[in-house]
Amino acid sequence: MRTQVAIIGAGPAGLMLGRLLDRIGVDNVILERRSADYVLGRIRAGVLEDGTVELMEMAGVNGRMHQEGLPHTGCELSFDGDTLRIDFEALIGRRVMVYGQTEVTRDLMEARARDGGPVVYEAQDVALHDVLGAAPRVTWRDGGIERSLSCDFVAGCDGFHGVARATIPPERLTLFERVYPFGWLGVLVDKPPVSDELIYAHHERGFALCSMRSPSRSRYYVQCRTDERVEEWPDERFYGELRRRIDPEVAEKLQEGPSIEKSIAPLRSFVAEPMRYGQLFLAGDAAHIVPPTGAKGLNLAMSDVRCLFEAFAEHYRDGSPAGLERYSERVLNRIWKAERFSWWMTTLLHIFPDTDRFSRRIQRAEFDFLAGSRAAQAALAENYVGLPI
Ligand code: APR
Ligand code: PHB
Repeated sequence: MRTQVAIIGAGPAGLMLGRLLDRIGVDNVILERRSADYVLGRIRAGVLEDGTVELMEMAGVNGRMHQEGLPHTGCELSFDGDTLRIDFEALIGRRVMVYGQTEVTRDLMEARARDGGPVVYEAQDVALHDVLGAAPRVTWRDGGIERSLSCDFVAGCDGFHGVARATIPPERLTLFERVYPFGWLGVLVDKPPVSDELIYAHHERGFALCSMRSPSRSRYYVQCRTDERVEEWPDERFYGELRRRIDPEVAEKLQEGPSIEKSIAPLRSFVAEPMRYGQLFLAGDAAHIVPPTGAKGLNLAMSDVRCLFEAFAEHYRDGSPAGLERYSERVLNRIWKAERFSWWMTTLLHIFPDTDRFSRRIQRAEFDFLAGSRAAQAALAENYVGLPI
């Protein structure tokens, strides 16, 4: 088999890249380790920056998003019960869209099945070969059969635990990492959200987030320890903890119901530089991770893909290598700003094991400063809705 771009991973990054390439007639094949159902079963974040909404439009997969997605003109912060609304619309004239990553993935999968290139699901032992030369190859096993695909380029969109970054010799990569000493325990429930807006809450017992997927489905999180297990968190305990951490007036309106998904996610900041090795280009979680506090993970993956797509388009349409040569530097500049924002929001809103009286007062001062400064609120809004690409 032969293709122009071999894409590893059918998460949102790989599927979006494949879709954009399909639309300009660049041949591509996606290799995914899991089944389509498995990929769609993963519950992840749900806030799209306006640039991500625009990319969905560019890719012609915006129909359901505009019907079912919920435009949000702001979000709420709560600090020990005091609340502050960040009004994106009034501050910077922009908004975000609440639409689950699972739905983004489903829309892209359906578009590909309708009129796109091939996706090989359950591709086992994917391996990259000769990515430093002009004729890279990707091999995998399909049941007992060995398969091989020659290509011009490999796009590593295979997430944090993928094979693409692992193919790069360690001495050619610089890694930056911070592992946070807590996790998020998340619950998905078929009950209307407690508020029309997302609420990010700091409380002495720990962080909490009230989010949603639709007018009838809510997503809630509480900060927990990394060594805890979901079995230790029956629904009653979860809701009890959530209620204590948010504004009591809001807590009164919380509608509880049996959780339809419950999981614990660790929090991590991570960047691997550079994002190119020969003909291999990394995009999305394969190269970087952010803690979920700023809702940047999916959006960063999408902005990488947009730049990588533009670089491939320049190569195939104009025969120019300039975009591919600048890719890593261009995306890393924006990635680091999103890393900074996610780290900042995480630091402001969580209780760290070493949070002493001094650090709590600093967190409080940060919140009070935000509350009193339109400029500070606008800075938050700009980062949340998405920095320019
Ligand atoms: N071979 C083939 N596919 C692989 C391999 C491998 N060795 N390893 C991983 N994959 C697949 C995974 O099964 C997954 O479907 O690559 C895909 C990567 O998808 P994501 O992890 O969703 O990463 P990405 O597309 O970059 O999207 C980023 O996802 O994890 C969230 O917070 C993140 O929201 C952000 C978004
Ligand atoms: C979610 O809805 O899952 C969600 C929303 C906002 C975040 C993180 C997660 O910052």
